[in-house]
Amino acid sequence: MNKVQAYERLFYPLLEAFQVDAEKAHHVVIWMLSHIEKNPQLLSVFEQIVTARGYPYTNERLQTVVGGVDLPNPIILPAGYDKNAEAVRALFALAFGGVENGTVPTKGQPGNPPKRVFRPRRNVILNCYGFNSDGSKIVSGNLKNYEERRGALGLSIGINKDRPHEQAPTAHREVLAQTLEQVDFFTINVSSPNTKDLRALQTYESLKAIVLECFAEMKERGIMKPVFIKLAPDLPYEMVDEIVRLVEELHLAGLMLTNTTNNPDIKASLGQQWSNQAGGVSGTPVRALATQMIAHVHHIAPTIPIIGMGGIKDLESALEKFFAGASAVGILTALVFQGPSLPSQLLLQLDQWMEENGVSNIREIVGVRR
Ligand SMILES: Cc1cc2nc3c(=O)[nH]c(=O)nc-3n(C[C@H](O)[C@H](O)[C@H](O)COP(=O)(O)O)c2cc1C
Repeated sequence: MNKVQAYERLFYPLLEAFQVDAEKAHHVVIWMLSHIEKNPQLLSVFEQIVTARGYPYTNERLQTVVGGVDLPNPIILPAGYDKNAEAVRALFALAFGGVENGTVPTKGQPGNPPKRVFRPRRNVILNCYGFNSDGSKIVSGNLKNYEERRGALGLSIGINKDRPHEQAPTAHREVLAQTLEQVDFFTINVSSPNTKDLRALQTYESLKAIVLECFAEMKERGIMKPVFIKLAPDLPYEMVDEIVRLVEELHLAGLMLTNTTNNPDIKASLGQQWSNQAGGVSGTPVRALATQMIAHVHHIAPTIPIIGMGGIKDLESALEKFFAGASAVGILTALVFQGPSLPSQLLLQLDQWMEENGVSNIREIVGVRR
């Protein structure tokens, strides 16, 4: 039994048996990680305990560059896990090649009222957090702790719930301005289903205005950082195509595909009680939707870098995203269900798979149907 199997078979059933509240459990995890990382010796012991034995954090096969972002390995933790950047060093110790914090709006806000995180079944999360965040000032203070880091640090930026959409460009610029020197890349997130009407900003025009305002800040300060846009898997492909055109025109770093889904059929497929539950579904049910969108974008614009996510839980589902056209992948939901050893276990398997198949770098399998 490897460490992932041990977590799934022995530890996770205990959480289920005691019906531990998902949000409370997550707060405890972040709190524990943030304390562990403060003590370098403890962090080193923690790393040895949780990571798969003999896994490669980085090597010539695993290291890559995606949209100008250097990644020691192609597995990242996407936004939503460590929203306020409180446990970044500990999360890197799990073997992630990149950690993306946020989504962070300018001002702190509580998000939607609880209960707002559910686990309808194994490998599925439904959340309606609504950008709960301490805000960019506090997050910027937290990021000061991570000047030295072993991988790429990203920040997902967003708009406060109470701000009108006309202010979206300024709102995103404010968060970027506050943290510009501190992170390696930014992601514009207007694809969350949990802030009313936010997804209406997923248009060519709105995103162009947001990006240009972010670029203006970077140009004035003479510090250019890669900027990605994250899309919802529910966005009609005509609109995806327009945003692809925007990415090309403005030479953006690339796309993060995808966020959670609020597809009513997917919710209904989880059972009657979830049909009318507000929020976005992640994990297994979003896997195919995300892979299809990645394949579509890679087909129409093969040079656009894509970080793919949605339902990745093992080697097969990770390879599926690379084959569809992703240059790196993100894993969030499966980390919750399969535990902290998952990223290192996956790296071990991915590296072995590449060696066995004569692949000398991960870039060789991007968009290559096997
Ligand atoms: C509890 C939870 C909170 C999330 N919060 C954010 C967020 O704040 N910003 C964002 O861009 N994506 C957020 N996401 C979406 C994830 O980053 C990811 O795109 C999505 O869950 C698909 O990957 P997965 O199936 O591996 O979880 C969240 C997902 C979950 C499950």
